[in-house]
Amino acid sequence: MNFKTQMEDYQSQQSDSQFPFQYEEWKRMAKEKLNGANFDYVAAGAGSEDTIHENTESFKRWRIQPRMFKDVKNRDISVSVLNKQFSSPVFMAPVGVQTILHEEGDMASAKAAAELDVPFVCSSVSAHSMEEIGEAMGKNATKWFQLYWSKDLNIAASFLQRAEKAGYSAIVLTLDTPMVGWRERDLNHRWLPFLEGIGIANYTSDPVFRKRMTVDPEEDLEAAGEQFRQIFGNTTLTWDDIEFVRENTDLPIILKGILHPHDAELALQYGVDGVVVSNHGGRQINGEIAAIDALPRITKVIQGRMPVLMDSGIRRGDDVFKALALGADAVLVGRPYLYGLAVGGEEGVKRVIRNLLGDFELTMGLAGVDKISEINPTLLYDSKYGDR
Ligand code: FNR
Repeated sequence: MNFKTQMEDYQSQQSDSQFPFQYEEWKRMAKEKLNGANFDYVAAGAGSEDTIHENTESFKRWRIQPRMFKDVKNRDISVSVLNKQFSSPVFMAPVGVQTILHEEGDMASAKAAAELDVPFVCSSVSAHSMEEIGEAMGKNATKWFQLYWSKDLNIAASFLQRAEKAGYSAIVLTLDTPMVGWRERDLNHRWLPFLEGIGIANYTSDPVFRKRMTVDPEEDLEAAGEQFRQIFGNTTLTWDDIEFVRENTDLPIILKGILHPHDAELALQYGVDGVVVSNHGGRQINGEIAAIDALPRITKVIQGRMPVLMDSGIRRGDDVFKALALGADAVLVGRPYLYGLAVGGEEGVKRVIRNLLGDFELTMGLAGVDKISEINPTLLYDSKYGDR
């Protein structure tokens, strides 16, 4: 897919659309549309939300220093990750419970991803089952499955086997959520979607989970929610448990939530296939390092020996550019596409992602670069510490 052409048509066809171009405006419109608890579930984070703030503020430290007199007529934003070619360096992050934003929930987001040729990471707590989402995306679309590792290991094993069978091509192991963080806005609302049975479709459709229940989950969604609460999250896992994942799937394993350089060393030592530098969009620990600050420390350790992806704070094209310049192979976006979903369903998600890609492609060209492999740290100026 050629995003340059796509963006040009998009600008000519959509200039009169009701959809905005600014991230802040999508967020404002989503807030207007949603009830307070649902909006806060998406927008909020841990504690005083200082990590969320830091995730976007820290991008500002890095300034793009563009090169001039470069032929940037043909701009190619395709990348290769895990030996597969993708038409852009943007992936859609795993996000659960999307039906709180729009009735079609993750089905709409997944279909938008498939249509745009953007890889979609299906969450363990998706509002539709991984099989339904996989089928809606079609065989050729790239889909990865994100695992939240249950206390019941048989459920975790079952999820891994189902994902492989349903056509997912990598497993993303989210490590930063052995339990849910201290989220003050959710606590104020005294509400979490799972307790009402939202976001547990992978569990209620799972033979092992169903066996644990004395009634069918469809007959008693509240009891299913309670059963989920009992098995969600596993606080006992350690690095050696990666072996369990290997025993249950042949798919590549990517660790999401790596922020400490020592954990990057362990990721190499344990022979996983990639990492995502992420602080879960600031939802887990208040006062945490911004993902963009952690990124260069992680890429310094990894030294190109495995793909490094990054998320948490990507809002615009320059953010994508900066992350790639600091060594990321690709980025994932979360909240921007969620606000698109809330405002306009599948069409809204497509607009948000296309805007981001259009913005990125122009930023890259204006910085004097015509292909991703030429984006490098010399194109950034560190306004905090200067040239070092
Ligand atoms: C998430 N995220 C997340 N991550 C994950 O591994 N599994 C999940 O089910 C979820 N669910 C989820 C729900 C909501 C509402 C949000 C906002 C986020 C984290 C997500 O994958 C990603 O790391 C962040 O969203 C990236 O940060 P930004 O782009 O939202 O700033």
